Amino acid sequence: MAGLQSGQKTINPKYFYDEAGSCLFAQITALPEYYPTRTETAILQSHAEDIAGQVGKQRVVIEPGAGNCEKVRHLIPALQPSCYVPVDISTDFLADAAVALNESFPELRIEPVAADFSRAISLPESVGCQSAVVFYPGSTIGNFEPADAVKFLQRMRSLAGPAGSVLVGVDLHKDDAILTAAYNDRAGVTAAFNRNVLLHLNRLLGADFKPELFRHHAFYDREKRRIEMHLVSELEQTVNCGSTALHFAAGESIHTENSYKYTPQDFSALAAAAGLKLEQSWSDPGELFSVNLLSVADCCD
Ligand code: AVI
Repeated sequence: MAGLQSGQKTINPKYFYDEAGSCLFAQITALPEYYPTRTETAILQSHAEDIAGQVGKQRVVIEPGAGNCEKVRHLIPALQPSCYVPVDISTDFLADAAVALNESFPELRIEPVAADFSRAISLPESVGCQSAVVFYPGSTIGNFEPADAVKFLQRMRSLAGPAGSVLVGVDLHKDDAILTAAYNDRAGVTAAFNRNVLLHLNRLLGADFKPELFRHHAFYDREKRRIEMHLVSELEQTVNCGSTALHFAAGESIHTENSYKYTPQDFSALAAAAGLKLEQSWSDPGELFSVNLLSVADCCD
């Protein structure tokens, strides 16, 4: 409500992910225009051995927001973790994903932790370790404001332990056309994903948003190096949120998401601000996306 009542109306992007929103996001990841997911997967597949060589085998791998635990599958054969700790807020989803993973890798010790990783995570004592690898793929780091991304990386750093490392997927700053297309797909799935947040708010706040009266708008701000997503009111209208009436002028927007893109230098500086040293980056031939290995030890902070 506070976001919707501020000068520039905003909705926290975490509200995208109700059941329908998670399903739409899964569809986004398979769209021809949305390159991040498939590009990251290709990087993980083709550099798994090299990553394992740098990270070391037999380590505890912790994955905050692990969801369906799909991406770690590309690393397990090479990394051979001593234990895999997927962390996710959705207990049932996590339990199912852990069972499916165990079917593929019967030897792997899996210790799922149902927790909100945006808060402090406490790990089971049995996996307590000084040198874990925190795996954070998907370029979700880009959905944090940079100052919050630093705070998040600091928390990942302490989770990894004094001799640990953090392996993180980062979407790279690039040509506007590629970025703009990725958030304005022809099939309209991203638009549906954006508008769906209003249906979620209708349920959460007892509101009466009509999603069809809001237009999806996504653009790349080259200076801020971020995609901004907005929902633009098609006309002057009043939306009731419980007992609060929200007025929209025609053309007024709700800012629903930022997705920051980094140059390798900018990301290295962000990591350093969190006390992490960029050891190595792996990218695709088109330099669209990067997977970055950060180390805790020896970082000068
Ligand atoms: C989850 N996150 C990394 C996505 C992104 O690209 O920022 C969310 C998304 N929003 C629109 N399309 C995808």
